[in-house]
Amino acid sequence: MLRSFYCRIILGNISHPRFRQLYNTKTCKSQYSLHWHKFDKQKCRLLSSSTGKTSEQFCIDKPMKWPSGKPANYKFHEDTENVLNEQINSELKAFYYYLSMAAYFGRADVALPGCESFFIQMHHEEHEHALRFLNYVQMRGGRVHLCPVLPPTDQDWKCPLHAFKKALELEIEVTEKLVAVNTVAEKHGDLNASDFIVTGFMEDQMKSVNEMGRFVAVLSGIGDQALARFMFDKDLLDSHVVPKFNVIRTKFHTNKTSSTSVSM
Ligand SMILES: [Fe+2]
Repeated sequence: MLRSFYCRIILGNISHPRFRQLYNTKTCKSQYSLHWHKFDKQKCRLLSSSTGKTSEQFCIDKPMKWPSGKPANYKFHEDTENVLNEQINSELKAFYYYLSMAAYFGRADVALPGCESFFIQMHHEEHEHALRFLNYVQMRGGRVHLCPVLPPTDQDWKCPLHAFKKALELEIEVTEKLVAVNTVAEKHGDLNASDFIVTGFMEDQMKSVNEMGRFVAVLSGIGDQALARFMFDKDLLDSHVVPKFNVIRTKFHTNKTSSTSVSM
């Protein structure tokens, strides 16, 4: 019983690539004084060195490079991999901008909880998108290359109209990038990548562009009227933010037992 237990531990270690690098399979004597164990290929059990078995009986593979560096993908073109990596960066850029907007509208001297909650929600949404692309690249056997994510040059968002105009720009930019990814995927006959973009993202993206455009239109008519701005903010919170991103709930009326609340 105990012997079998130790066998399993040693077998597990032997199968590790790093171990294989260290282990000399020809002589079955490691440079790290591991010669007191030999592996019997036929019987799959460890033998002490005193049994005198020859090296041919050992079933340890030759030392191998790890990671192998060999692509494990199926028809995943390098160009498609590159544009998908760029898409991760675009999503993270939007993620960072929305965080900046949320932080601005959460300031005590700005105090627009509807805008703050809405941009927190958008921030989480972009993060989720970035992770979906990252997981997709990995699922296809590609490699993820993360790039620097720069902050907005001006983090003073001034008023909701200014922030929503920038949000509309970001959504359009992300949409154009998605179209570019799809174009590259189609060029290389990658139906799966194309389907991932078209059915997984395009409709929601169009809805986001439309939603931001509508907010910009409403805010353009509000101007500097405090009451109208207050009502816009309240409507945003009531109608466009799911409860778990509502900062009034999460920040000011925190229910300690709730596990659904999300804050910055
Ligand atoms: Fe997105």
